[in-house]
Amino acid sequence: MYKPYIRPRRLRGSPEIRSMVRETQLTVDDLIYPLFVTHEKQARKPIPSMPGQFQLSLDNLIEEVQDVRRLGIPAIILFGIPEKKDATGSDSYDDNGIIQQAVRAVKESVSGLMVITDVCFCEYTDHGHCGVIKNNDVDNDATLELLAKQAVSHAKAGAEMVAPSGMIDGMVGAIRQGLDEAGFEKLPILSYAVKYSSSFYGPFRDAAESAPRFGDRRTHQMDPANVREALREAELDLNEGADMLMVKPALSFLDVIRRIKDHFDAPLAAYNVSGEYSMVKAAGQNGWIDEKPVTLEILTSIKRAGADLILTYHAKDVAKWLG
Ligand code: PBG
Repeated sequence: MYKPYIRPRRLRGSPEIRSMVRETQLTVDDLIYPLFVTHEKQARKPIPSMPGQFQLSLDNLIEEVQDVRRLGIPAIILFGIPEKKDATGSDSYDDNGIIQQAVRAVKESVSGLMVITDVCFCEYTDHGHCGVIKNNDVDNDATLELLAKQAVSHAKAGAEMVAPSGMIDGMVGAIRQGLDEAGFEKLPILSYAVKYSSSFYGPFRDAAESAPRFGDRRTHQMDPANVREALREAELDLNEGADMLMVKPALSFLDVIRRIKDHFDAPLAAYNVSGEYSMVKAAGQNGWIDEKPVTLEILTSIKRAGADLILTYHAKDVAKWLG
């Protein structure tokens, strides 16, 4: 009978030895928690397709971020649902817009929690697209100027990092220039550099009320079939001044995360998007999978693939499980 001399199982025999040789450690420091803030008063409206997630009014947002801070989660990213939408998404660059109010409220009520803002137009335009529309398409260069304006307005409200998500060519350069001219040279940009046109965003578009009224986002977001193009997008954004990169979604794009990580030195974030969250929640609620170990396995895989930071709706649960 053949007796193996080399036995990998020697290093798997007990929890102690498994933990000694564990290569990837998921920690609460890796997490960024997305939150939806609505103009409505005293609202804590459950998002049906994202169990456990809510549209929060300002007062409820404050309570929520205090909770988030207590759990040791280091950062949040805010998405706004404005009272009025229009053709240019003007609430997004109004110094009294919903996001600006939210940033001020959060900064006044908690310390030690990093506030990141998503910089885009789809939640603020009446047509639901990520910029100004011309000839049924997002007008790239007309949108750039407004993106810079939006980012500066977020910075004035106290945002500590801006995260442009529209996949508009030149968005990072335009925002960097706008911020610098307004005196915010120190404000970092986390670019959604590699963002795919993905069906996994479905639940988010309910949550943020940001689905396009016509067409789709394929003229600016990337084709999920491409990976060499991701390297080009990341390089362009770094050259325009991005401080950190993001790949989005995460789970169907682990290979892309790895490729970006191997090619570039910039810190890398990955967005574990709404559809990825909802699938786990739905299966968990049905008793088809065990939510806790499945979630931890997914987030560990995203980190193992190369993400330094993970934006995830599971953040609070994970903080509790790891704590
Ligand atoms: C755009 C934006 C989207 C998401 C984050 N920022 C939606 C889109 O591109 O349509 C999706 C996040 C998710 O699905 O969790 N502002």
